[in-house]
Amino acid sequence: MATPADKLWRNARLATMTGGGLGVVEHGAVAATGDTISYVGPGAEAPDAAEIIDCDGRWITPGLIDCHTHLVHAGNRAKEFEARLEGATYEEIARAGGGILSTVTATRAASEDELIATALPRLDQLIAEGVTTVEIKSGYGLTLNDELKMLRAARRLGDVRNIRVRTTLLAAHAVPPEYRGDADGYVDLVCREIIPATVGLADAVDAFCEGIGFTPEQTGRVFAAAVVHGLPVKLHAEQLSNLNGAALAARHGALSADHLEHLDNAGIAAMKRSGTIATLLPGAFYFTREERRPPVQTLRDAGVPIALATDCNPGTSPMASILLAMNMGATLFRLTVEECLRGVTINAAHALGLELGVLEPGSPCDLAIWNISDPAELVYRIGANPLHSRVFAGQ
Ligand code: NIG
Ligand code: FE
Repeated sequence: MATPADKLWRNARLATMTGGGLGVVEHGAVAATGDTISYVGPGAEAPDAAEIIDCDGRWITPGLIDCHTHLVHAGNRAKEFEARLEGATYEEIARAGGGILSTVTATRAASEDELIATALPRLDQLIAEGVTTVEIKSGYGLTLNDELKMLRAARRLGDVRNIRVRTTLLAAHAVPPEYRGDADGYVDLVCREIIPATVGLADAVDAFCEGIGFTPEQTGRVFAAAVVHGLPVKLHAEQLSNLNGAALAARHGALSADHLEHLDNAGIAAMKRSGTIATLLPGAFYFTREERRPPVQTLRDAGVPIALATDCNPGTSPMASILLAMNMGATLFRLTVEECLRGVTINAAHALGLELGVLEPGSPCDLAIWNISDPAELVYRIGANPLHSRVFAGQ
């Protein structure tokens, strides 16, 4: 007789995300002991438990993971959106001092508490859709103190809500106004002061390798500093042009390369070699009316795992819906239902260097329980939220 568990969710249909597909178990059950899954499998073989929850045939997936967000920021860019409707481009606005830098001004002026207060509604929207792990980047502070403020705010969001927060330092997001014309000087500051000061507060280091961001040489310097300090790297790469950023990231063992609309075959081969995840961000593709799609079929053929995320940010993806990101991944990028689901569970976990996003004994007991009759419904609906309930760390 197996030892009784603390909780047992029975009479459920499971998408375990194990075995390379959805890993479906009909008439299934999940048990938790403490904060960890202790049983996954047929209901008939499940252990006894102190508390038993009847799922009435609902589907259970792992709690969803949003592996690329800029959730912490102040202000919004609705006016810039209006200018873009009149014909201005994202790059023109950025080069004229708007874009990312306008959010930098607002974020520098905000206190840590204000950043938390403005991020909470966005975080709550993700939580309401079954998200149990979220990545949050800095990158709108661009001074040592303001980047630290953003990272602390991000970490504290994980204290005030039942969610796992992974923080990413994105100090190399834009050249701040006080370094205008001296991007190399700013990169020196990032490498010598900001990266060393964020050890323990950041889980990874990201950069924006782009004509309006940082050159591959500058990005390489940021990566080298991150690696010296034991921090894994990831990259905003090939979003607006092809600077071979994904290959550069792969050479530094990057967890993920993100966006990738302009990725080429050499970049894909490099990502395959290094096990770098391709994180696709259809919200930014949609909102900037990008016309070039990421090379999904070539990524698939090469066997590069694909993650999907909201990229929730005020400039290119003012979207805090992981379900909408899944729908867009399917409609805009032609991902399959299985790819969309793996993109917000197991592959998203790997993009963060985490071993979760699966229903498996030993995994944290993070569950999303859905009022659906088929997993495709999670991808198919637009603006609907079929979440029945959510479990974080067994609670
Ligand atoms: O993921 N590409 C750069 N960073 C963000 C946009 C940030 C912004 O415009 O505020 C992105 O698209
Ligand atoms: Fe981003």
